[in-house]
Amino acid sequence: MQETEQVHVALPLKYRPMTFDDVVGQEHVTRTLRNALESGRIANAYLFVGPRGIGKTTLSRIFAKALNCTHPEGSGKSAVGIEPCGECENCQQIAAGRSLDVTELDAASHNKVEDVRPIIEAVQFKPAASKYKIFIIDECHMLTPSAWNALLKTLEEPPPYVKFVFATTEGDKVLATIVSRCQRFDLRRIQTHQIAARLQYICGKEGISADQDALLAIARGAEGGMRDALSSLDQLIAFKGSTITEEDALSVFGLVSRKALEDLAGAILKGDAAAILQSVEAFDSAGKNMRRLAGELLRHFRNLIVYQSLGGQTASLEATPDQVKTLAEQAKLCDASRIFRVADQLAAMEDKLRYALSVRTLIEMTLLRASRIATVASIEELMRAVRALAAQGGGTVQPTPAKSGAPAPAKPSAAPMAEAKPAAKTEHAEKKPQLTPEEQRKMMDDPKLNALLASLPGAKVTAIS
Ligand SMILES: Nc1ncnc2c1ncn2[C@@H]1O[C@H](COP(=O)(O)OP(=O)(O)OP(=O)(O)O)[C@@H](O)[C@H]1O
Ligand SMILES: [Mg+2]
Ligand SMILES: [Zn+2]
Repeated sequence: MQETEQVHVALPLKYRPMTFDDVVGQEHVTRTLRNALESGRIANAYLFVGPRGIGKTTLSRIFAKALNCTHPEGSGKSAVGIEPCGECENCQQIAAGRSLDVTELDAASHNKVEDVRPIIEAVQFKPAASKYKIFIIDECHMLTPSAWNALLKTLEEPPPYVKFVFATTEGDKVLATIVSRCQRFDLRRIQTHQIAARLQYICGKEGISADQDALLAIARGAEGGMRDALSSLDQLIAFKGSTITEEDALSVFGLVSRKALEDLAGAILKGDAAAILQSVEAFDSAGKNMRRLAGELLRHFRNLIVYQSLGGQTASLEATPDQVKTLAEQAKLCDASRIFRVADQLAAMEDKLRYALSVRTLIEMTLLRASRIATVASIEELMRAVRALAAQGGGTVQPTPAKSGAPAPAKPSAAPMAEAKPAAKTEHAEKKPQLTPEEQRKMMDDPKLNALLASLPGAKVTAIS
């Protein structure tokens, strides 16, 4: 190996955000902290709670810098100077962990009364060279009850120049008496597309070429954790060099490609049992993580439900434009009530997977059942169709052309399936959008509908092809 003075700094460390603007996601936290800084209404203590690697330590440090920076700058989101400049003496010392006025305690390894006693003593003295004396206590749920008790008094009535910032992955383990003395923030897992965008930015800086799908795969693998995503990228670069493909990323995590996942969902919606079994077989023999597959499939169907209810423009849809295109196509394949029931099946499967002896068999059986559900009309649909028919005129069903592509007879037109209206209001019914001949034919052809119509008293069914 070549001797160079260049030291490799791990990506998570190298790209730790230095300003609020730089933090990905967590807007609910950055907004409130910015407001506090702007208005000068700073709470005595803050508590950041959330899973690993999503910005708790990062935000604690940015906040400490922002409080003590001597030349805070304006930012895109705020005209008043609140972003730490990163250059003044205070900012630099805090970044290097050398500031006399900012103390970080890692409670995972320092959790006893003796460890917090220096804090209680230090609180009595004014800050050396800054506005505030700040104590950051990381993994604070590890502090022993007696350590907390020792801190309690100080926490309740600290001198105005003292601020506490606590961070923990386990908010539930922090005593209620502590939580009630803090301003609590729950940090969230970061959305896949936001992680992918950050990875894109970092790849640009590092001269790495990686396509969008590769980065999305890494982001999916990280399940909302930015540190995990960056560590994986680091690992892939070490393994593959400066070009990373989707296949590389997928194989590291045992993930199925987005296309394969969408195709499987399509097969379920179309009731294509052969395709379902083939895909499961292929994933299993390629060593894909079947539990992850089940989770991702459920997420896809969840997205389909969101798409069907709210359309493609909503923030609740965690999808890229390409994915939205697929969702739009698949949403047309199946009625919402059926998709709900498919999602129910998948959710129940996720639970059972934990105890299943044969993961593959359970998945196969569930997906086959789901595909039946997706292709057989539900009672809700039938009732809607029947009501629509009733509204259209006494329950008489007119013949539809058997196989020809010719449009169906123009009248009487079938009323839309959406809602039932009394049969008398014909002028109302006519204003509603009409079913296309194709939709009419599909409805008429449904065996269950036909069976139901045949059994309905008073519904005259004539010549259904
Ligand atoms: N919201 C974020 N935006 C941008 N980068 C982030 C974000 N969250 C985490 N990171 C990246 O992950 C690294 C680790 O983040 P941080 O130390 O803040 O995690 P944490 O929430 O404190 O996790 P832990 O519970 O493991 O201590 C950061 O250095 C940064 O590179
Ligand atoms: Mg941390
Ligand atoms: Zn500064």
